[in-house]
Amino acid sequence: MKIAILPGDGIGPEIVAQAVNVLNVLGESFEMETAPVGGAGYAAHGHPLPEATLTLAKQADAILLGAVGDWKYDTLERALRPEQAILGLRKHLNLFANLRPAILYPELAGASTLKPEIVSGLDILIIRELTGDVYFGQPRGVRIATDGAFIGEREGFDTMRYAETEIRRIAHVAFQAAQKRDKRLTSVDKANVLETFQFWKDIVTEVHQEYPDVALDHMYIDNASMQLIRAPKKFDVIVTGNMFGDILSDAAAMLTGSIGMLPSASLDANNKGLYEPSHGSAPDIAGKGIANPLATILSAAMMLRFTLAKPEQADRIETAVKKVLAQGLRTPDIYEPGTTKVGTEEMGNAVVRALT
Ligand code: IPM
Ligand code: MN
Repeated sequence: MKIAILPGDGIGPEIVAQAVNVLNVLGESFEMETAPVGGAGYAAHGHPLPEATLTLAKQADAILLGAVGDWKYDTLERALRPEQAILGLRKHLNLFANLRPAILYPELAGASTLKPEIVSGLDILIIRELTGDVYFGQPRGVRIATDGAFIGEREGFDTMRYAETEIRRIAHVAFQAAQKRDKRLTSVDKANVLETFQFWKDIVTEVHQEYPDVALDHMYIDNASMQLIRAPKKFDVIVTGNMFGDILSDAAAMLTGSIGMLPSASLDANNKGLYEPSHGSAPDIAGKGIANPLATILSAAMMLRFTLAKPEQADRIETAVKKVLAQGLRTPDIYEPGTTKVGTEEMGNAVVRALT
C-alpha cells in the first residue's frame, strides 16, 4: 500500500513527521513517498500543486497532508497561492466527501470555551460536500456590471451551483454514516433564500426514502450555527454544502477545546482519500516545535480505517492518543494548569511509546 506524504507549509512538516513515526511502528509495510505541496510546491517547482505531486497523489492509495499556506505567498496571483493545492487535489481526485468528526475527549473538557455540561461527551460528525458549491461554480471574477442598481461599476461575482448527482452522492454518504452511528441526520441549508439550497433540500429528502431507518431533519445554516453552540450534543451527523460546511466545521472544532485535535478525511466514491488535520499551517508557530501533532496522527488513524481497511490499527492509534491525554501530556494549545506541557516531538514520541 502506497501513501503519498505531502507535508506542505508552516507546521505541516513537523506534525506530519510525527504521524509518519506512528505509521512506522504499526508493523505494517507501507510504502511512503514525500512530495512538496502548497507554498513548498511553489518554492520548489513554481506551482502549489506541481505535476509530479499530483501524479504521486493519483497513484497512491491514500494521501497524508500536513497543511498549506504562508503569509509569504499571500501576494501571489490566486492561481499560484498555496490554497490552490488543496482545492486542486480535491477537484482532480474527486474527493467530494469531507468527514470532520468533532469529538470531545473527556480529559479536555476544561479546554473548551463552553461549559462542561454543554460539551462533555460530544461526538458529532460533520459531512461537508467538497467539490461543488460557490467554491468551484463558474462563472466567477470581477467585471463591469451591466444590470442592477450599479451599472457601469466594477462588481465581484461567484456562482453557487449544485448538480443533482453531487447532492445525491453526498446524501448517500451522509445517510450511510448516520446508519453506523445514532441514525440521526441533519441537513443544513439556506432553502428560505437560495434556489440552490431549496434544490439541495428536495434531493436530500428524496434520497431519504432509501434510508427509512435514519431520522432526517432540515435546518437553516444560521439556526444550525446557533444550535451548534447552544446544544451541540443534539446533533449526530450533519450534512451540508461546501461553504456552509467550511464555516460550521471550524465552529464545531472549537467546541472540542482545540482545533489541534481534529482530524479529517476527504473521500472519493471508492473510499480513496486525502487525510489532513482540520487546522491550518499556523505560520506563527512554525519551526518552534510546539504544534499539536494529534490531529495529524488521528488523521492517519482515519486513513487506516477508511482507505487502508485496517480498522484495528486505527483503534490502536486512537487508544494510544487517549492514553497520552490521560497521562496528562499537553501541547500548549490544550495546556491547562496541572498538566504537563510538551512539544510536538515529545507528544509524537509519547504516542509511539503508548503503541509499543
Ligand atoms: C479547509 C480550509 C480550505 C477550505 C482552504 C484552505 C482552501 O479552510 O479545508 O477548511 O476553505 O476548504
Ligand atoms: Mn476551513
